[in-house]
Amino acid sequence: MNRSLLNSEVSRFITFEGIDGSGKSTQAKLLADYLSSKGIRVFFTREPGGGSLGEAIRADILDRRDIDIEPYAELCLFCADRAQHVREIILPKLRDGYTVICDRYYDSTLAYQGSGREVDPGLVHRMAMASSLGVEPDITFFLSVPVEQALLRLKSREKEKNKMDEEPFEFHSRVNEGYRQLIEKGTPRIKVIEASGSLEEIQMEIRRFFE
Ligand SMILES: Nc1ncnc2c1ncn2[C@@H]1O[C@H](COP(=O)(O)OP(=O)(O)O)[C@@H](O)[C@H]1O
Ligand SMILES: [Mg+2]
Repeated sequence: MNRSLLNSEVSRFITFEGIDGSGKSTQAKLLADYLSSKGIRVFFTREPGGGSLGEAIRADILDRRDIDIEPYAELCLFCADRAQHVREIILPKLRDGYTVICDRYYDSTLAYQGSGREVDPGLVHRMAMASSLGVEPDITFFLSVPVEQALLRLKSREKEKNKMDEEPFEFHSRVNEGYRQLIEKGTPRIKVIEASGSLEEIQMEIRRFFE
């Protein structure tokens, strides 16, 4: 996080990343509850969908089965959602002293649109960074799970299926590979969490970073 944007030194910006079905939403909410129980003021949000453009972009465009969305258009929509979300929600909450937990952030753009959709990586990188308005996560948990296992978990989550979840195995593999490349490049804020175990085991591993 760019500290010059903040009033409070104790504010933290925490993001969760990983392929669909890796357990991000589950673990992010558990961490939010845990930090709240410690008296920390936590604000939980997610991408896409957090800002005022988000729900419209998510429901009306990204999840519409009748639109075969062009990858470049998809990149622009996710980045538009993020820029608005940062300006309206994330930055004001950080300034107010909240710890903000966001389920997905710009690493998702790099992995999904860069590697998954194979849009020009240089362009994806520039757009992803621009869409953050300079607000970088302090810490990012990458939930590492084999693609096969994540897809099995998704099958059990019928009610919250979206278009991305329904992409073929190869797509999710490319996304996973995109995250791997990001980690191998050396990005110290990204903590790799072994996420094939139980909910409790994974949560304990995440909480170690807050002791
Ligand atoms: N460690 C786990 N073991 C077994 N099932 C899990 C685990 N974590 C999450 N799940 C289940 O798998 C599905 C996907 O989890 P979710 O948190 O929605 O993943 P994501 O947000 O990364 O797509 C949900 O039905 C959830 O209850
Ligand atoms: Mg989720």
